[in-house]
Amino acid sequence: MSGEARDPYDTADGRAVPHPVLKKYYESENDRRPFVSALFDNAAEHYDFVCGLGSLGSGRYYRRWVLLQSGLRVGMKFLDVATGTGMIAQGATRILREPGSVVGLDPSGGMLQQAKRTLTVPLVQGTVEELPFASGHFDFLCMGYALRHVADLGVAFRECLRVLKPGGRVLVLEITLPRSPLGQRFFRVYFESILPRVTRISTGSAKAELLMKYYWDTIANCVAPEKILSVLKSSGFARIEHRVRGGLLSEYIALKPA
Ligand SMILES: C[S@@+](CC[C@H](N)C(=O)[O-])C[C@H]1O[C@@H](n2cnc3c(N)ncnc32)[C@H](O)[C@@H]1O
Repeated sequence: MSGEARDPYDTADGRAVPHPVLKKYYESENDRRPFVSALFDNAAEHYDFVCGLGSLGSGRYYRRWVLLQSGLRVGMKFLDVATGTGMIAQGATRILREPGSVVGLDPSGGMLQQAKRTLTVPLVQGTVEELPFASGHFDFLCMGYALRHVADLGVAFRECLRVLKPGGRVLVLEITLPRSPLGQRFFRVYFESILPRVTRISTGSAKAELLMKYYWDTIANCVAPEKILSVLKSSGFARIEHRVRGGLLSEYIALKPA
């Protein structure tokens, strides 16, 4: 055999993908987006409940806390990319005390439908790869737990950079596998076996169970933090930091150069 094996996170057409094709769920990279859209549309009504299970009830509190820790302050314009049912947008609204300064965006109609039940902020249907906003509009952009679903990290980060004002800040939240073998083993048992079953039993929904199975498989196959940091850099962000809480909650923070 000649030549080096291709990095599974770099496609032949030059995209940086968050994980290789997962044949268990869909056949090719092109099938990924329709699969993910249907997944979230179908499980939207159960999302907040299963999220509470997965985070042992701390998810809402953590989201608001991390926004504050990362510098979200009154007076800022905030974009919640991949808002889902709106948990991050809710936290931001409580901090900014002005629903007009928060916008939520998500491709899933089902998730946005759920978000509308509790949020009064503008909600827009769209993807991070093609943000329907003017350049230089936001002071702070957060994308929570959606990096594993984007088609190309480079395109996604460059769009985030574009819509931020100079000096604006991006915060990407993700789950990262713990480094220690013991942590990995515990995490695997909980997220691969226990959580999908508990989800099925408590919601009675096979679609919610599928969401949790896919959740685990995307985490287990997710691109390494080093690659995420390098794509943030090559996309034009500066002062890039990566914090990990409790061994698994990753926070990537970066600034658009002034
Ligand atoms: C796990 S949920 C996270 C929701 C919310 N950010 C939270 O913290 O609970 C992932 C969300 O990403 C959305 N999503 C999937 N692909 C996306 C894309 N290409 N651009 C923006 N959002 C996307 C899904 O529709 C879903 O609502």
